[in-house]
Amino acid sequence: MNALVLESLGQLVLKTIELGPLPEGYARLRMLTAALNHRDEWIVQGQYAKIQYGVVLGADGCGIVVEINAADRRLLGQRVVINPNQNWGADHRVQGNSYTILGMPTHGTFAEYLDVPLDRLYPVPAHLSDEEAAAFPLAGLTAYRALFVQGQFHQSNTVLVTGIGGGVALFGLQYAKASGACAIAVTSGAQWKLERAQQLGATVGVLYTGDAWEQELRRRLGGGFDLCLDGICGEPFNRLIAAANPAARIIVYGATLGVVPKLDVHRIFWKQLHIIGSTMGSDADFEAMLRFIAEHRISPVVDAVFPLERYQDAFERMRKREQFGKIVLRIAE
Ligand SMILES: NC(=O)c1ccc[n+]([C@@H]2O[C@H](COP(=O)([O-])OP(=O)(O)OC[C@H]3O[C@@H](n4cnc5c(N)ncnc54)[C@H](OP(=O)(O)O)[C@@H]3O)[C@@H](O)[C@H]2O)c1
Repeated sequence: MNALVLESLGQLVLKTIELGPLPEGYARLRMLTAALNHRDEWIVQGQYAKIQYGVVLGADGCGIVVEINAADRRLLGQRVVINPNQNWGADHRVQGNSYTILGMPTHGTFAEYLDVPLDRLYPVPAHLSDEEAAAFPLAGLTAYRALFVQGQFHQSNTVLVTGIGGGVALFGLQYAKASGACAIAVTSGAQWKLERAQQLGATVGVLYTGDAWEQELRRRLGGGFDLCLDGICGEPFNRLIAAANPAARIIVYGATLGVVPKLDVHRIFWKQLHIIGSTMGSDADFEAMLRFIAEHRISPVVDAVFPLERYQDAFERMRKREQFGKIVLRIAE
């Protein structure tokens, strides 16, 4: 079968690999679609823990179950999505030591076929296309836990989501909107993305390229935010601290810009801020997210769809930050 394999540092190649026998307790999927996450790009760049070469990348995908090596065969022939968690463990508060994510170190979704444990599979919510189904598992799960579990969202909260063109960020906006947030502010590096976000329910949009954007944000909101989802960190993080309301919660799920220089600790304690980390979500979070997506008929924002052979264009789009939402690979019809 054809698969996108990480051969060495920076070398992601489309090549033919053999499928082994299906292990017990596993299902074989014929993949229809898969979606990129920034994680895939970090792995290609070598900026990820415990990288192994010869692995098929991809944490997100939608496929048809073509074979099952288990007694329970109810999913055979069905269109399914994959929970990308592997071995979260028994503690809902935090993943265990053996936790991994599909697509490194085990083979992922950027392939014509994928063997996964049967208990990772769920029928696709009926209102979603193949592309939308591939778009939500990893980013949707991360946003779900960040907003509802770690963030303890309440409708009275003014919410800020940074870097709204990103996959996780857009789910944060859609979930907050569907849950009746009283105000949702967003930041972006592009005006057209702010306008798209406003069509999706953002009440205020500010360019993070402008000077003192945190002051403009506060002015346009008529105050600060109560709850922020941030995957950026870096220099702008102190601006978030400045824009926060007293006792606000800042949920950190990523660090695209790396460490925060000269963290403004004085404001953190004076404002009694809560700075909370969040990673992926437990299996219970994944199932709660599936129910939420079905109940609120959330349709993930698909930015662009590329055939598998054009994977380099797909990655280039992410590198150049051109996307608004998820970049999807079409593998088969
Ligand atoms: N902890 C976890 O479980 C977890 C899960 C998923 C992702 N992550 C991390 O979270 C981050 C986002 O992931 P993703 O997959 O959503 O990424 P993505 O789709 O590639 O989006 C990244 C977004 O970051 C924004 N951005 C880039 N440079 C920026 C800058 N200089 N200032 C402000 N914003 C900037 C951009 O927003 P605009 O386009 O609007 O400018 C961009 O769209 C990554 O670092 C990823 O590794 C962590």
